[in-house]
Amino acid sequence: MAAFHEQAVYQVYPKSFRDSNGDGVGDLRGVTEKLDYIRALGVDYIWLTPFFPSPQRDNGYDVSDYCAVDPLFGTMADMEELLREAKARGIGLMLDMVFNHTSTAHEWFQRALAGEKRFQDYYFFRDGAPDAPPTNWQSKFGGSAWAYAPEVGKWYLHLFDVTQADLNWENPAVREELKNVIRFWQGKGVRAFRFDVVNLISKPDVWQDDLIGDGRRFYTDGPRVHEHIQELVRDTGLTEAVTVGEMSSTSLAHCVRYTKPENKELSMSFSFHHLKVDYKDGDKWQLQPPDLGQLRQLFEAWQTGMAREGGWNALFWCNHDQPRVVSRLGDDRRYWKESAKMLAMCLHLMRGTPYIYQGEELGMSNAYFDALEDYRDVESVNYYHILASSGLSHEDVMARLQARSRDNSRTPMQWNAEPGAGFSDAEPWIPLGHGRMEANAETEAQDPLSILSFYRRLISLRKARPVISEGDIRFLYPDAQDVIAYQRGLGKETLLVACNFAAEEKTLSLPDAFTKASALLDSYEQAPEIDGTRLRLKPYEGAALLLVQ
Ligand code: GLC
Repeated sequence: MAAFHEQAVYQVYPKSFRDSNGDGVGDLRGVTEKLDYIRALGVDYIWLTPFFPSPQRDNGYDVSDYCAVDPLFGTMADMEELLREAKARGIGLMLDMVFNHTSTAHEWFQRALAGEKRFQDYYFFRDGAPDAPPTNWQSKFGGSAWAYAPEVGKWYLHLFDVTQADLNWENPAVREELKNVIRFWQGKGVRAFRFDVVNLISKPDVWQDDLIGDGRRFYTDGPRVHEHIQELVRDTGLTEAVTVGEMSSTSLAHCVRYTKPENKELSMSFSFHHLKVDYKDGDKWQLQPPDLGQLRQLFEAWQTGMAREGGWNALFWCNHDQPRVVSRLGDDRRYWKESAKMLAMCLHLMRGTPYIYQGEELGMSNAYFDALEDYRDVESVNYYHILASSGLSHEDVMARLQARSRDNSRTPMQWNAEPGAGFSDAEPWIPLGHGRMEANAETEAQDPLSILSFYRRLISLRKARPVISEGDIRFLYPDAQDVIAYQRGLGKETLLVACNFAAEEKTLSLPDAFTKASALLDSYEQAPEIDGTRLRLKPYEGAALLLVQ
């Protein structure tokens, strides 16, 4: 079985992790400083979000040079030191390859604008009158997906920000350039890669308006996407590497293909359906309480579907684009610890490789910013204006940002309870979150019952118990409201996991054999209450029982 089945990945967003040089912005040396903290968690890889030279319009996802380090984050020597020091602690670095688009500040795009035909073919430049974009597609950050470049009298495609121009993967020269980027980092010793929105790289041959949507159905899991990934992987020898693809609006069938080992594409995939259950009508900016029935169904479909077809999931609740899960699906006030631990175990005991986003292991909550000036993210700022001009009140729009802004996860990492949270001695580039300060590494490292200690336990359990990394999975209690429960099985071991997502008690009747099971883990840090065959779950309690036969 593949090693990554029992491994775990820790995601670092360097800008908000630790500022080592007092300029208010986190940096690579800050990550190196904190390697012992990361090692103590027991993870195998650090996924480092982009630190490459970039105008920072989209916090580094607008790359202007893939083979260098932005001075904001340090130097190449700092990067090499980080790689060395991580390796010495048995941790690999996973680099973030943003290959769907480059920044418009990239040399390739600049040369395209200067009229070099060769580089225009690196992107999607299309003729058209300045007031008539080639299609009606919408950018994922709001507005048209096309921008007019007066320098060349053409439109170019940008599925994200106007400064993120989509690369033309149909051009073999582009594919070679990108392979060389992988080879460059392999030369530095990097063996793991994350591929940003990689299922959007293959655009259709015909450009047409989308009469029923924003255009995504034409380029999501596009016509040659599997071919392109296979070629990239084959030509750079990535078959032995640990790779993960971020898949936007994808399908289960495609994720099976992306991750089935015999297809020689990727080790695993991120999909997002489970993080849209609180979107009304699928729209991120329309709030609704999470639909837990739907969440349960989605987990069941993806967990059992990937298992049946031989695919592999990346498991995650949080990343740098998502609100904090304890605020979103837990209760960060009354049941802070209990719900944070329940959410962690619900995810970590499933089939797949877990990813932990910095601060999640501390139970950090949403930012709760109440001033527009506190927001930094280009998407949040764009949508503030889009929503406000659609007639919503300032208060209403601010409430939506509080719930949905990507800045919720980008507030400085809380190392201690001091005024700057141990992130920086200077004014941080983004304000500290207004959530609870007990969620900090210093306090939690000393407490065996902290959320941090619970995450450490979960990670070591996965390595110790093959039933977690390799067991099959079956979902239970389809009719129990607000409960997600499943059973894992391998050889003589059966693990039952039951998670209560509500602030009230729930009672489940256990399969007979389980009356003899032993308690493995509980988000209340006490044995779950079992009365005959009835398992009584307290508010936000997660319980795991192990049966060895
Ligand atoms: C991915 C990244 C996100 C970025 C986008 C465009 O979704 O995670 O942060 O804005 O791609 O690169």
